Amino acid sequence: PSLKTIFQDDFLIGTCLNTSQIAGKDSAESNLIEQQFSAITPENIMKAHILHPAWNRFDFELADKLVAYAAKHRLKVNGHTLIWHSQLPDYIRQINDVDSVRQYFVNHIETVASRYDGLIESWDVVNEALNEDGTLRNSIFLEKLGKNYIIEAFRLAQKAAPNTKLYYNDYNIEQPQKRAGAISLIKSIQAAGVRIDGVGIQGHWRAGDVPMEDIEESIQEFSALGIEVMFTELDLSVLPNPWDSNIADIGRKAAYRAEMDPYSGGLPDSIQHVQALAYESLFRLFIKYRDSISRITFWGVSDGQSWLNNWPVRGRTNYPLLFDRQFKPKAAFYRVIAAG
Ligand code: XIL
Repeated sequence: PSLKTIFQDDFLIGTCLNTSQIAGKDSAESNLIEQQFSAITPENIMKAHILHPAWNRFDFELADKLVAYAAKHRLKVNGHTLIWHSQLPDYIRQINDVDSVRQYFVNHIETVASRYDGLIESWDVVNEALNEDGTLRNSIFLEKLGKNYIIEAFRLAQKAAPNTKLYYNDYNIEQPQKRAGAISLIKSIQAAGVRIDGVGIQGHWRAGDVPMEDIEESIQEFSALGIEVMFTELDLSVLPNPWDSNIADIGRKAAYRAEMDPYSGGLPDSIQHVQALAYESLFRLFIKYRDSISRITFWGVSDGQSWLNNWPVRGRTNYPLLFDRQFKPKAAFYRVIAAG
């Protein structure tokens, strides 16, 4: 069975991809990508540190390859991301004056957004601009350009990429306080007469602890703003968070491995099952709101690719996705198909 086929009348099904995947290094994985997905997001290669490595130099080589790969395989591309506080080029740390930050900001958005207009489906124009309490996150952009920088980013993107959909993307915006912040942010963009087409809820959750009610309320409230709702970086971790642990200094304690990496020898069936049911419930909810939701993107093809093997601590063995390290479908895959 194929995810993109089962859900073709409901929403796009995406994955993030890296350089080795678009180069087709592993044929089992390439086949899987072609069979299962209708959309892609570059996991890293459209981030500023890669696209804009020096003050006056852009490097579009990898991004162009990704766009060509997508055209060949009929995949919609979501550009990720124009303005974000993280994975910025190093020289940003050296610029302190408002004029230089503004120059970077305008140049980056205009150059990148216009290059791919008509070639990609959408941009995450701004990523992760909010704190957990719904206020604006401190960043070089907030500090130097002021609180209207988000509206400005969308205004510049709209001008440079009139044929590309423009999205705001963030994590935990299903949580009530942060969600309220996102809603007022979106309303402020709309009130300024600037186009915003959708909101991406990242969807990095824990398999045993998916906030279903918050997610449902979020779909309702965001779609009431007249914009598309997407789940853009979906994965369901099976590992404990270090901050939930009573090990104070995880770096030095001998107990760290056992406690923080409990499934290094394989995932027990019981946990597979919990994860599979969590994915099924989520997809049943997504189907219920199929008229409001335009895309569900997984943050990786297989467990081996997942960033959650290295976050928030390095070197763990996580199993957050639908395909295992040999690219075989997991229990979660079959439960998602059953929901379709
Ligand atoms: C992550 C990538 O998956 C990693 O490969 C990279 O080292 C760090 O960034 N929120 C986002 C994504 O918007 O861009 C992040 O991706 C995961 C969290």
